[in-house]
Amino acid sequence: MQPPRRKGPLFYSDTGAMKGRKNNNLSVFVVVFSVFLFGVFMYNEDVKSIAEFPFSRPKQQEIQEGPSKPTTPLQQTSKKGVENTVPVSMKSRTKLEESQEENSDEKQEPVDLKSIIATEEEQKIEWPVVEEDDEEVELPPEECDLFTGEWVLDNVTHPLYKEDECEFLTAQVTCMRNGRKDSLYQNWKWHPRDCSLPKFKARLLLEKLKGKRLMFVGDSLNRNQWESMVCLVQSVVPPGKKSLKKSGSLSVFRIEDYNATVEFYWAPFLVESNSDDPNMHSILNRIIMPESIKKHGVNWKSVDYLVFNTYIWWMNTFAMKVLRGSFDKGSTEYDEVDRPAAYGRVLRTWAKWVDRNIDPKRTTIFFSSMSPLHIKSEDWNNPDGIKCAKETTPVLNTSTPLEVGTDRRLFVIAHNVTQSMKVPVHFINITILSEFRKDAHTSVYTIRQGKMLTPEQQADPATYADCIHWCLPGLPDTWNEFLYTRIISKS
Ligand SMILES: *[C@@H]1O[C@H](CO)[C@@H](O)[C@H](O)[C@H]1NC(C)=O
Ligand SMILES: *[C@@H]1O[C@H](CO)[C@@H](O)[C@H](O)[C@H]1NC(C)=O
Ligand SMILES: *[C@@H]1O[C@H](CO)[C@@H](O)[C@H](O)[C@H]1NC(C)=O
Ligand SMILES: *[C@@H]1O[C@H](CO)[C@@H](O)[C@H](O)[C@H]1NC(C)=O
Ligand SMILES: *[C@@H]1O[C@H](CO)[C@@H](O)[C@H](O)[C@H]1NC(C)=O
Repeated sequence: MQPPRRKGPLFYSDTGAMKGRKNNNLSVFVVVFSVFLFGVFMYNEDVKSIAEFPFSRPKQQEIQEGPSKPTTPLQQTSKKGVENTVPVSMKSRTKLEESQEENSDEKQEPVDLKSIIATEEEQKIEWPVVEEDDEEVELPPEECDLFTGEWVLDNVTHPLYKEDECEFLTAQVTCMRNGRKDSLYQNWKWHPRDCSLPKFKARLLLEKLKGKRLMFVGDSLNRNQWESMVCLVQSVVPPGKKSLKKSGSLSVFRIEDYNATVEFYWAPFLVESNSDDPNMHSILNRIIMPESIKKHGVNWKSVDYLVFNTYIWWMNTFAMKVLRGSFDKGSTEYDEVDRPAAYGRVLRTWAKWVDRNIDPKRTTIFFSSMSPLHIKSEDWNNPDGIKCAKETTPVLNTSTPLEVGTDRRLFVIAHNVTQSMKVPVHFINITILSEFRKDAHTSVYTIRQGKMLTPEQQADPATYADCIHWCLPGLPDTWNEFLYTRIISKS
């Protein structure tokens, strides 16, 4: 029998794991202190310098494009007591970046076309089923901090699968097929300072997932990770025994012989928002209902492993628009709430839902910290760079975090909320280690609104490079190695 509250300090599943660790208290202090500095910086800036704020760094002409037209006639009202120092029209990111964060959800229907129903013809094909040795997998000690470490080159074990051997990858992430020439980004392995990640074995993972559902819930970065997970397990499943189906917000990869599923559920803010339509969410005037989560939540019940995230959709404005009332009742008025305040409300709503609806004996909960952007090459001292486009190696000096404009206030909130819940949550601390991976983005080797970039667009990375999403195989495979470690560690 599984103890009901098995602690997994691997992922800091409880506050006790933090308290016992001096180093971590120190790091938390550093994080909190930098957040304080950050806050001081932010609130002292006027609108002009906010336009040059590190998240966004829009070019002058992009700023002058002015406000984007709302798709629905909404009125802005100011909540009493909430200071609106940032005008509504001040966009902190470019239109292109907005289109990138929802890339491939629009015109392209990448996954549902891929439903694999093997014909007799296909079944005759010899399929390269990966043979795995019987050697025992060595688990890292539970107290080992997996997220502090370094990137090491290891072209023997990485990539964990080949791009052209995973038929389920969408054109958004197949960088080599889309024309990327360098492939070193696939060969980096994360090496924790005090232990090693266990060797990845797809069959071992599938044994653990037998009769179970693993679901990723969140935005396009979580979908990026979901695609990676599908590829990680699919290599050991013969054709005809696996299928991918998309219906509404849910995409389900099914592995027949194991009666297991690896699923993705689109909910970019976790709570209800006007961007919840899985295909038609190109809404510039994003509005959330921070206390409303049930509509999504019903789809998460009875799942065995849930992996949540929410970040990138928060980053295009400094204030979040919060609906007064309900979309169902046709409400259109909203208040503008400071980003961290709104983020905290959303995560507390989520936490309450988890505590009320999740049986920790059955379900394991993960929360992924933010996936970083690499928009400004001066951040890693490359004045000749163009966003992330010319980068072919990670930053290898991991002694201090790289500052690439991540909103660390949200990190602190997410960590705090996840550690103060009744149901234990494994906090997957991917932010800092991913900040070093300026080389791993899809850049110009991707699609935009469902279409492959043209050669002319590829030649103009300053405008078109996507420095939000990641190539596969690539960095999200490492995020999944953390999930794998936790899942196989459960007896
Ligand atoms: C997250 O990981 C980084 C290293 O990648 C570490 O410095 C930091 O203390 C960790 N934060 C938490 C809250 O675990
Ligand atoms: C792996 O790297 C070594 C040198 O580091 C190189 O000689 C070898 O060709 C590489 N192998 C592959 C498969 O890329
Ligand atoms: C298959 O898995 C589901 C959970 O995903 C479970 O409800 C069902 O009972 C399983 N079926 C069999 C035949 O094991
Ligand atoms: C790594 O970066 C830190 C901070 O920028 C610097 O002090 C240190 O000397 C660097 N280490 C190496 C080996 O370059
Ligand atoms: C952390 O969470 C607790 C409980 O939710 C709250 O009382 C506290 O103010 C939070 N601290 C920070 C720094 O957000």
